[in-house]
Amino acid sequence: MNSLARRDFVGRVLGGVAAATVAPSAIARASERWREPLPSLTAPDDEAYWKMVRDQFPIRPGYTFLNAANLAPSPYAVSDTVADLTREIDREMSQQNRSRFPALREAARTGLAEFLGAEADEIAITRNTSESNNTVLNGLTLGRGDEVVIWDQNHPTNNVAWDVRAERYGFTVIKVKTPPPPTTAAALAAPFLAAVTPRTRVLAVTHVSSSSGVGLPVKELCAAARQRGVLTLVDGAQTFGSQSVNLHDMGCDFYTGSAHKWFMGPRETGVLYVRKERAASLWASVVGVGWDGAKDRGARKFESLGQRDDGAVSAVGRTVEFHNAIGRDRIDARVRALAAHLKTRLKEKVPGVQFHTPVDATLSGGIVIFTQPNLDPGPAATALYEKHQITCATTGGEFRGLRFAPHIYVSLQELDRAADAVATLV
Ligand SMILES: Cc1ncc(COP(=O)(O)O)c(C=O)c1O
Repeated sequence: MNSLARRDFVGRVLGGVAAATVAPSAIARASERWREPLPSLTAPDDEAYWKMVRDQFPIRPGYTFLNAANLAPSPYAVSDTVADLTREIDREMSQQNRSRFPALREAARTGLAEFLGAEADEIAITRNTSESNNTVLNGLTLGRGDEVVIWDQNHPTNNVAWDVRAERYGFTVIKVKTPPPPTTAAALAAPFLAAVTPRTRVLAVTHVSSSSGVGLPVKELCAAARQRGVLTLVDGAQTFGSQSVNLHDMGCDFYTGSAHKWFMGPRETGVLYVRKERAASLWASVVGVGWDGAKDRGARKFESLGQRDDGAVSAVGRTVEFHNAIGRDRIDARVRALAAHLKTRLKEKVPGVQFHTPVDATLSGGIVIFTQPNLDPGPAATALYEKHQITCATTGGEFRGLRFAPHIYVSLQELDRAADAVATLV
């Protein structure tokens, strides 16, 4: 990269946070660790390019991390920003010094809004998807006679959490099952549409399921729900940071995500999107200092959560810059390419492999869940880690198996190795 391009690149990377002029020395130090990986651009299957991306992470050499659905590492640019801003607070804990942080939080919000195809007023920076989901379902006014339609594959925070509210307020939760394995988007949408009645107030689904890897046609579902006057909550824990998402285009009322998964951001930060016209009627669960200023400022009212970890919250902005430097569409394409490659290799190498996740990319996302008649998921995951230094997750129940979730810091070669390793276990 020539020096002009490097300056331009670093300028772009620093733009959002530096513009808020907090702790310039800390920011400069964090930027030094960004190793400027982005010379002229290449196809997402160019392994040399993705190796440069991987070098942005402090990943233990020889280890393969296939668990972004649970937790992903942050690049140096992000973890250094968290550390530096945290130290900046510890160095000078005066109100005066800390008063700089609201501007950083606003910069992060603006970045996130642009990243997600929304407006800044529609974005709250929360702690995680769990909190965001619960903020929505606690904030709606529902009662006897109302119905909420949910996917039986929703995470507990968008599933059991509804049962608990229903017990308290007397509404009914209808749990929809989709056909395993789904063959078309229409087949996935049909059971939801059939479950909606004139009493339905909310449709609460998951963009990509962490238990099966199935991806729902959320845009179509949101459009159908809107036509019927039904509110929509889309749990985006498995798409925030892995897919190029445009929330205004998706058309949901609420979307939730965790920064510490595919977004590769600071841990214990998350996002809650609340469509502009819904903010006023959604009650805040937590009301704290700053409420008066926040309650008429859209989704900010859901951030009235008491003292926050300002370094982490601010570093959400840096994470957006990291994604933008690579390109959202390029990350999206790479995640899809990794999942497709993995499915192909598992089919080739593991006799009798069965996929819970559709092989069709249009019905799935970055997660691949599979089984094999001789595969015992628990011992298999242990063996993968102990013998092959590969980390993954296990799934249970109807979709019992192994869950691989490779992200941009994983190479195609590592996926080949992972498929070979699984073959030794069956
Ligand atoms: C679909 C889905 N929703 C919500 C969550 C909860 O995420 P967190 O623990 O970050 O709040 C998860 C976690 O895996 C998930 O997969």
